[in-house]
Amino acid sequence: MGTPIIAGNWKMFKTVGEAVNFVSELAVRVAGIKGVEMVVCPPFTALAAVAGQLRDQGAGIALGAQNMYWEDEGAYTGEVAPGMLKEIGCRYVILGHSERRQYFGETDAVVNKKVHAALAHELIPIVCVGERLEERESGNTEEVVRRQVEGSLAELTARQAAAGLVVAYEPVWAIGTGRTASAADAQQVNKFIRGLLRNLFGEAAAQAVRIQYGGSVKPGNTAELMAQPDIDGALVGGASLEVDSFTDIIKNAVVGY
Ligand code: 13P
Repeated sequence: MGTPIIAGNWKMFKTVGEAVNFVSELAVRVAGIKGVEMVVCPPFTALAAVAGQLRDQGAGIALGAQNMYWEDEGAYTGEVAPGMLKEIGCRYVILGHSERRQYFGETDAVVNKKVHAALAHELIPIVCVGERLEERESGNTEEVVRRQVEGSLAELTARQAAAGLVVAYEPVWAIGTGRTASAADAQQVNKFIRGLLRNLFGEAAAQAVRIQYGGSVKPGNTAELMAQPDIDGALVGGASLEVDSFTDIIKNAVVGY
């Protein structure tokens, strides 16, 4: 609900130079587009430079990080703290992406700590959930998504949820595979997530949370996905790496919503 949110998750792609060139071009291409919130999530190394470029151009594009640690500071070699992201100018942080869960062992308990830390620093978490192929095929999609949503959002208040939380439904089998969930399948799970949020936080907060879909989102399937009542945005991987396709996704999102 509210303004739809289209976020580009660049994953481990783009040097600082490539990232800055990308957003300077993107800012020109999307200038004047209204009714959609645009976010880019570059790798850590490019965040500060991209933030500067977006500010210089008055681009109206928000900045997000792809991960963070939950402590404020300390002897945690290789980690990045919430306040560091905030200082750079990040508004969003992706948490619990399936690649973090799959390759780096992130559990719902870890994601939950990060969600609380992000909110404490006024960063808006984009909390990712989604089932693997074998889980879908064995009929366990709802059980998996319920566990992830309830675990990742444990101990959150309705007020915190309503203040801008984003949940991204990203079925693992649809990520980077070209195999998008059908709009009807995505809507079904997003609606299920809305129901979970309603149970946790009540109706008003559940409606205020924006629930994205992610997994092989492309210009050609954006409008249909965005037309679904419980799909409030998209988290875009591969197609967010090219200015042409990301621009078209943003434009089609406005048409479809
Ligand atoms: P793709 O759009 O490349 O499938 O990636 C989706 C994703 O993981 C976004 O976080």
